Amino acid sequence: MRYTITAALPYANGPVHIGHLAGVYIPADIYARYLRLKGHDVLYICGSDEHGVPITIKAQKEGVTPQDIVDRYHNIIKDAFKDFGMSFDVYSRTSSETHKRTSSEFFRKLYDEKKFIEQESEQFYDSKANQFLADRYITGTCPKCGADGAYGDQCEVCGSSLNATELINPKSAITGNVPELKKTKHWYLPLDRYEDFLKDWILEGHKEWKPNVYGQVKSWIDSGLQARAVSRDLDWGVPVPVNGAEGKVLYVWFDAPIGYISATKEIRNDWEKYWKDKDTKLVHFIGKDNIVFHCIIFPSMLKAEGSYILPENVPANEFLNLEGDKISTSRNWAVWLHEYLEDFKDQQDVLRYVLTANAPETKDNDFTWKDFQDRNNNELLAILGNFVNRAVVLTHKYYEGKVPEPQPNAFTAFDKEVIDELPIIKEKIEKNIETYHFREALKEAMNMARLGNKYLAETEPWKLIKTDTERVKNIMYIALQITAGLSQAFEPFLPFTAAKIRNLIQFDVIDWNLIGQCNILKPEHLLNKAELLFSKIEDEQVQAQIDKLQATKVSNTMNQFKAAPQKELISYDDFTKIDIRVGTIIAAEKVAKTKKLLKLTIDTGIDQRTVVSGIAEYYEPEKTIGQQVSILVNLAPRELKGITSQGMILMAENADGSLSFVQPNTIVKNGSEIK
Ligand code: MF3
Ligand code: ZN
Repeated sequence: MRYTITAALPYANGPVHIGHLAGVYIPADIYARYLRLKGHDVLYICGSDEHGVPITIKAQKEGVTPQDIVDRYHNIIKDAFKDFGMSFDVYSRTSSETHKRTSSEFFRKLYDEKKFIEQESEQFYDSKANQFLADRYITGTCPKCGADGAYGDQCEVCGSSLNATELINPKSAITGNVPELKKTKHWYLPLDRYEDFLKDWILEGHKEWKPNVYGQVKSWIDSGLQARAVSRDLDWGVPVPVNGAEGKVLYVWFDAPIGYISATKEIRNDWEKYWKDKDTKLVHFIGKDNIVFHCIIFPSMLKAEGSYILPENVPANEFLNLEGDKISTSRNWAVWLHEYLEDFKDQQDVLRYVLTANAPETKDNDFTWKDFQDRNNNELLAILGNFVNRAVVLTHKYYEGKVPEPQPNAFTAFDKEVIDELPIIKEKIEKNIETYHFREALKEAMNMARLGNKYLAETEPWKLIKTDTERVKNIMYIALQITAGLSQAFEPFLPFTAAKIRNLIQFDVIDWNLIGQCNILKPEHLLNKAELLFSKIEDEQVQAQIDKLQATKVSNTMNQFKAAPQKELISYDDFTKIDIRVGTIIAAEKVAKTKKLLKLTIDTGIDQRTVVSGIAEYYEPEKTIGQQVSILVNLAPRELKGITSQGMILMAENADGSLSFVQPNTIVKNGSEIK
């Protein structure tokens, strides 16, 4: 069988992070590696998506060209993927000449065959910059929530999606000018004409697609498809190949998916087999935000063109969060692949393992460093690493590193049970990978290692070696066959580890069908010296990562923080009415049935009094005792949860949004006035 596997082309406006890996690249890599192992003809295609407005905006901010931006990130991404063991057959880019040609020709064919409609519309134009403004280049006040700085397509404060013309007081982000509306012509793909085709093909024909994908497609179709503009007024992109289209480029979502085809052309003269032969299975790996483009727009383009195959499946994943928060490139809330590779040298497989075991296949999931550490130490190291190590070490100890000759008639019922279990596990891995259940597939591969551990733990060769050396030969023979099976079964998931295992057992064959066989390593076959597959991940390593994230959070709040405007002027007399003193907290307890309130007893120098303060989220009661604080003593008493609060403790907001006492920087007398 022939497969064309694509992984969404990452935007070259930032590096790749764990969300991309878990959602797209790791599952696609597992799938591609697996199919190759099964002997299929596979092309696994990826590359950088180098057009689009975010790239031009970034370039403008940095005062460099868009080409500079994409060169920088294309290289960072490409190198990181390589180091991470992505088995792409090609990692190309959409600024390549082949891509320009391929996407222009594609457009031109649809244009010539009248598959587009031409339409004029009014768009914002910046007469100072002499250009039309993409939605992202227009800012203004959000008509929904009133926040400033909303973009022409979205308000990031309230999350509403907007039309640029709805913005109140729109401004050009380039010049600050007030933009004017001006007529412009664009080409549209009339998606409504493809509704019946899409219904038949997906809603009727692909009910097996993942529910999240099928559901999204259905709701798009049900709400009625509309013509989509496939060109833009921009100077970065593939020029629209039509006379009189100066200053217009192909819309990034028109050219980018064609990038899969261009990339294939770059490596194969026989590229058409992979895109036009009905027997080829095309599978797109993407994240959920790409569903409409890969299930509706690109297929309609392919259909309109006429000579291409359609995807067999589009196994989109949900999103991965990081330590409870949405991953965000602009807020730097991410674990960046290139940084991970520096901080955790030669530990690619740990990340591959954690992101697969925790993949957001059916719902959004959370990555935490604690889980990363636990899965390495308690699963990879304790189960897989431990088993392989034992098998190899004991073989050296008992047989000078050579596979022992088993006695064919001496296998016990338990031996047979274990041997019979191996092909069953193999089948479960296959079934799960083939239905895109990679987490489950990985779990099954781990079960093979678990089985090995259990086998050794129950047969206890280290005890038997003193009493029954013949029996130990059979046990070790089986343990080594399981080890050899693991060196194949983990190849799609943990390629570095699988290679290490093969090196340990001096076995360089890669063949999926060996899994489950019990005579892979022949008697007398010599193993290499034992070496650990995994090393323990220490608390300090994980803490360093958590600290790094914490620092990001702090700098984000600092950057976002806007001091409130100064209040109305007051007279000196007004000021002297305010009586603020330094006091010492002498007792503290939580106010029952509240989350935020502490009941404090304060020695104010004047008296000892009770103050209720909303600081329980930031201070443990015991830790406040003995602290000097600033207290407004002549505030009229207030009743809070049945307690009379006589005064108010002054607090200031920290960078992370928590509150701190405002304290004198040396110990001062209680009752001393702050003035
Ligand atoms: N760059 C897009 C994203 O990161 C994905 C493009 S996929 C392609 O969301 F098909 F258009 F190439
Ligand atoms: Zn808003």
